[in-house]
Amino acid sequence: MIAIGADHGGFELKEEIKKYLDANGIEYKDFGTYSPESVDYAAIAYKVGTSVVSGESTRAILCCGTGIGISMAANKVKGVRAACCSDYFSAKFTRLHNDANILCLGGRVVGAGLAIEMVDVFLNTEFEGGRHQRRVDQIMAIEAGTFEA
Ligand code: RB5
Repeated sequence: MIAIGADHGGFELKEEIKKYLDANGIEYKDFGTYSPESVDYAAIAYKVGTSVVSGESTRAILCCGTGIGISMAANKVKGVRAACCSDYFSAKFTRLHNDANILCLGGRVVGAGLAIEMVDVFLNTEFEGGRHQRRVDQIMAIEAGTFEA
């Protein structure tokens, strides 16, 4: 299952992405927000991030105005590797090289057409592993406080 969430800045984009998920039979849980009214993004990022690291969701999509605030918040949840992307190449390579588990998008930055292409490649690209596994392990060691430079 995929987790999805947004603040008001990403609400409309989240709704567009849900149409893509529905059309492709991809199961998801929508963690809100459920209207264009102003809300703080940290709570949404926390709920979606927790869903991913608990194993309830395999991957997630988060949207805010820029994609930045919600990615910063999500990355504070231990185990999250959230990537804020605004181009197709980055959305693909953050799976191949970073094993990102959350894609963050800016509803005021990218149009729905590009966003859906990015979601599609993010959900359908597997981590390459190999030398990239070592690098991801280093990221996680920084998070765990065990990294030795
Ligand atoms: C809300 O106005 C906006 O600040 C938020 O959606 C996001 O862009 C923050 O990074």
